[in-house]
Parts: sequence; C-alpha cells; structure tokens
Amino acid sequence: MRIPVLTIDGPSGAGKGTISRAIAKKLAWNYLDSGSIYRSLAISAVDQQANLDDEQAMAEIAANMALSFDSGDELVVRLAGTDITHRLPTEETGAVASKIAAYPKVRAVLLQKQKDFRQLPGLVADGRDMGTVVFSNAEIKVFLTASAEERAKRRFKQLKEKGIDANIDKITKEIQERDRRDSERKSAPLIAADDAFYLDSSNLTIDEVINKVLALTEK
Ligand code: C5P
Repeated sequence: MRIPVLTIDGPSGAGKGTISRAIAKKLAWNYLDSGSIYRSLAISAVDQQANLDDEQAMAEIAANMALSFDSGDELVVRLAGTDITHRLPTEETGAVASKIAAYPKVRAVLLQKQKDFRQLPGLVADGRDMGTVVFSNAEIKVFLTASAEERAKRRFKQLKEKGIDANIDKITKEIQERDRRDSERKSAPLIAADDAFYLDSSNLTIDEVINKVLALTEK
C-alpha cells in the first residue's frame, strides 16, 4: 500500500516547522522534522569534541547516533536517552548542523533513517531535500520561502519566546550565511523540486499558508 507524503522544503525561518506540524496534526499524519536530525548530529559531534572537519568521523557518529523522537503535543528529542530538545533551536547548533550536512557521507547515512518515517496513514516531511532526494516520489511537494529579513524577524521572535537570548542583526547574517551554504553545497543543495508548488510566505499569515497547503492536499 502506498503511503502518501507531503514534502515541505525551504530555507531556514520560512515557517516550515510551524506549518508542517499544524498540517500533520490536521491530517493526523506523521511528522518528520529532518533538520532536527542534522541538529542532533551537530550536538552529538560537539559533545564528543569530534573534529567537525572530518567527514568520515561525522558519518560514523551519524551511523551510531541513538536518537528517539517523542511526538506528543510538543516534540521531545532524546540522544542516547538524554533530552536535548532545548539545545536544538539555537543558531550555534544550526550553524554546526549546516556545516556537517554538506558531507555526502553523512547524508547517505541519514537517508534511510529519514525514509523510515514514512508510516501510515501518511507523512509530512520538512527539510531542504525532502522533495528532491529523500521522498522524490512524494505526492505533494511544497517549496516554502520568505525574504531573509522576514525570516530573521520570525526566528528572533521564536527564540525570544523560548527564552533564548538573540540579536536580530546577528540572526540575519547567520541566516544569510546558512542559506548560502545550504544552496551552494554539491550534495542535495537547497533547491525547489521541478514539481514543487512554490509558496512565498513573506506577506501571508500562518493560517493563510496552512490553508493554501491544505487546499493542495485536498486536490
Ligand atoms: O531546518 P533546520 O534549520 O532545523 O536545519 C538545520 C540545518 O540542517 C540546515 O541549515 C541544513 O544545513 C541542514 N538540513 C539539511 N537537510 C535537511 C534538513 C536540514 O541539510 N533535510
């Protein structure tokens, strides 16, 4: 039996997480936050004081990572049993994740782990290469973006709400740097799939975006 997948790709801060979670809830489908896998790997590598420039070492850590996702009302991520959820959203973690995510060996190791999330009754998958690589045969693909300024504002607000100290200029620079690295890398760069529905959320509310995506899934 074919298990339907809705992929939502796009740059950081475009609102993928919020939108994907809301849609997964509405459809009662499973949810894959693929960025949190790369972020967990970053935390694991930093905690082990591993050499971030060593692709092979990073791939080995990825292969041996004991990750578990608990998706109740709030997603709880555990690494070898320890709750690392609060460490996932920081820009430092995002920057290390984006560096490690450029390694083809790391991406190869993480491919199957991500595919395993395709479970009945369906999956909403959020990331950079969900529609182009991991679920290239997905039924519905969305590429969700917004201007860098708008994304920095949203990320700033999100971090503040979580009680994490943040600076808007620094976030804008970090977002631009991460966009550049994610788009220019050779392995699975951030790019819209040919058959993706392109959605710019700069001037849309969260509900407007959710309704547009839901309308696509109903078709
Ligand atoms: O989406 P999020 O900001 O949590 O992702 C963190 C980093 O992980 C991204 O900047 C990107 O480099 C990497 N990533 C990726 N492929 C994905 C999801 C995330 O390369 N599917």
